[in-house]
Amino acid sequence: AEGDAAKGENVFKKCRACHDVGEGAKHKVGPELNDLFGRTAGSVEGFNYSAAMKAAGEEGLVWDDDTLTQYLKDPRNFVPKNKMAFAGLKKDDEVADVIAYLRQFSE
Ligand code: HEM
Repeated sequence: AEGDAAKGENVFKKCRACHDVGEGAKHKVGPELNDLFGRTAGSVEGFNYSAAMKAAGEEGLVWDDDTLTQYLKDPRNFVPKNKMAFAGLKKDDEVADVIAYLRQFSE
């Protein structure tokens, strides 16, 4: 089902310690998440990604509804050895909602 961006803003509280999004967003522990949709994994200038995330991008991983859903449900399995210290979102609606929230910051 389509996510609810307003609910997703609330879900994003779980991400904010490490990620910034919106006007003027800066890298924190994790990369800024503006223009995420259609972006190659591990590709934002000025962020020190893991070798695993850079390799995933070089092998063709691009962030979209499907790849974000898989990553956010199970980060460690979707990109083995990536350095995001986050267990993942357990509920499908939380995943869809946070994706709808993040889509607002993509062209
Ligand atoms: C990477 C989303 C929670 C730290 C990423 C990427 C996405 C993402 C889409 C890949 C970005 C890219 O390729 O440019 C999210 C969302 C979260 C969340 C939506 C909440 C549901 C967290 C938390 C932390 C964190 C809590 C810190 C404890 C990182 C780091 C990376 C990353 C360090 C880079 C991984 C690497 O280079 O291997 N995150 N994240 N994230 N995230 Fe998160």
